Amino acid sequence: MPLSDKHTETKTYDDILNAGPPLNQLAKEFVTPNKLFFVRNHTWIPHFQLESYRLRVHGLVTRELSLSLDEIKRDFERHALTATLQCAGNRREEMVSYKPIDDQLAWGIEAIGTAEWAGARLGDVLCAAGISSEEAAHVAFLGLDEILHDHANEAYGGSIALDKALACEVLLAYEMNGEDLPLAHGCPLRVVVPGYIGARSVKWLSEICVQAEQSDNHFQQVGYKLFPPHITLDNVDYADGMPLTKLPVNSVIVRPQAGSQLQAGKVVVEGYAMSDGEHEITWVSVSADGGETWQRADFTHEPRLWSWQLWRAEFELPPGEHEMVVRAWDSAANSQPETIASVWNFKGYVNNAWHRLRVVVA
Ligand code: MTE
Repeated sequence: MPLSDKHTETKTYDDILNAGPPLNQLAKEFVTPNKLFFVRNHTWIPHFQLESYRLRVHGLVTRELSLSLDEIKRDFERHALTATLQCAGNRREEMVSYKPIDDQLAWGIEAIGTAEWAGARLGDVLCAAGISSEEAAHVAFLGLDEILHDHANEAYGGSIALDKALACEVLLAYEMNGEDLPLAHGCPLRVVVPGYIGARSVKWLSEICVQAEQSDNHFQQVGYKLFPPHITLDNVDYADGMPLTKLPVNSVIVRPQAGSQLQAGKVVVEGYAMSDGEHEITWVSVSADGGETWQRADFTHEPRLWSWQLWRAEFELPPGEHEMVVRAWDSAANSQPETIASVWNFKGYVNNAWHRLRVVVA
């Protein structure tokens, strides 16, 4: 899915935009340039007038708020945080090759990026509104974009637990890498929920509601729920699903790409690794012989919470076909399952099996 000219200034798009960077540009830098940051949209980018934009904060609050972007910038302290955003569908393509998955985007390894986000803390805005009831347990978001489900339009939405919403890492971002938040990434305002699947980071944010229950939105109640491998479209009861929140530990080989023809001798292997953000990636092991022997990869940066780790390893490879494999651990001893069979699910979410690819050395 190559990125097209998604950064055009116009506010109309003919098509639903879903795109990621070319693989030779993926994870080259710790912070992903805006023009290389993947885009995941469930419908067309909404039309709106920036001048009349308001964020409504309501529900179990002492004071309802209706805030313009200028008021958010003026009344709430600006905080910046470097955080990785990863779509729950990242690496779905490998799951699809194992067993078909209907009606979902077959993302490769490119539905991930890291940006410096800046904006107000969601917690500060919630404090200004005041939590009015002990029953308040969830914070629901709605975007300006509307999606047709069962013959009715519903805004894109989702929710997170109140505890996470009050955590200092959760932002209402109006800047991305020092620029105004680009339209494709949720201008004028989006939620950024570091460590969680990207789906909870609602773009074009229009409403925040403090409530007792999780959001009843389609993308909380039907989409972005995890099911064990034996559940399929034929026997699913969506009420039983597990709403996805934190990301599991994952690691991916970005270079060389699958099927590459390489020269015998020194081969550099590079990639990314990610955890739930609360725990640092502490170890990445890479194999060039299908997992018979392993080498510890070097990190290219100091470990940071909420962000991916980029890693690098060198091998001396003789001619022949080689299977490369990567697996990672985080500081809480979480790691990755060996096979896709154990994590396959009919929606193709959060594939974190060991990443494998084959290269040919001549
Ligand atoms: N917010 C709205 N309003 N509409 C959407 O379709 N997609 C979600 C999330 N927020 C979405 C949204 C999903 S599934 C992901 S992975 C992230 O946005 C992607 O953010 P990005 O496009 O800035 O990379």
